[in-house]
Amino acid sequence: NRVTAIVLAAGQGKRMETSVAKQFLTLDNKPVIYYSLKAFEESSVDEIILVTGREQIDYCMEHILKPYQINKVSRVIEGGKERYESVYHVLKDIKQTDYVLIHDGARPFIATNLIEMLIEKVKEFKACILGTPVKETIKQVNEDDYITATPDRNTLWAAQTPQVFSYEAIKKAYDLFYADEEMNKKAITDDAMVYEKYMKLPVKMVMGSYHNLKLTTPEDLIIAETLLHNI
Ligand code: CTP
Ligand code: MG
Repeated sequence: NRVTAIVLAAGQGKRMETSVAKQFLTLDNKPVIYYSLKAFEESSVDEIILVTGREQIDYCMEHILKPYQINKVSRVIEGGKERYESVYHVLKDIKQTDYVLIHDGARPFIATNLIEMLIEKVKEFKACILGTPVKETIKQVNEDDYITATPDRNTLWAAQTPQVFSYEAIKKAYDLFYADEEMNKKAITDDAMVYEKYMKLPVKMVMGSYHNLKLTTPEDLIIAETLLHNI
């Protein structure tokens, strides 16, 4: 079985409000993106495909992959304007593989043992994602900020990455998604959504870790510094 990891680092990090995109900020003198690349490097995946903005491709090769010896990266390719476009660029670029793990480069604390667990689980379940039970009560609100529903917290999990699929199936799901002119494409916030909607097949939720934080807003950097020294 061939396993390909896709590491997404083509976003602009608008909510982080830094001049440098969050995946290139440094944590302990190493770029954020280094940490997840390292976790995949040390895992059993066969190859890693890194997705960045066009202007960062050379920088990544020279200043991240080479010095830190991330040797499993087969190529660095240009992403798109939206996350789903970055994912689709890679899915179209892959010629042959059995499974893909799609990971947010903005989640530096993914552990190699969770990657290994997902590689085992996907063989059984065909599609699985990491997540954690939500800690807070989640409210659904309308346009005027009035609460319209309070789903039972015991049924709610926050989705993380990696999200892992059989390559054929996720490629097909994205093909159908792209062909769907009715779909508001910007409503897509993770890959499992695309698979759920267009394959109509089950996706298994796998217990992730509260350490597997996505750096999104400025205070996440403070949490990240603390996590880094307590893992
Ligand atoms: N991503 C990507 N291509 C895009 C948008 C996002 O590869 N066009 C990646 C980001 O680099 C990040 C991951 O997808 O690793 C998760 O996205 P998010 O946290 O939303 O990052 P950004 O889109 O960069 O941040 P923001 O939404 O605040 O602008
Ligand atoms: Mg985004």
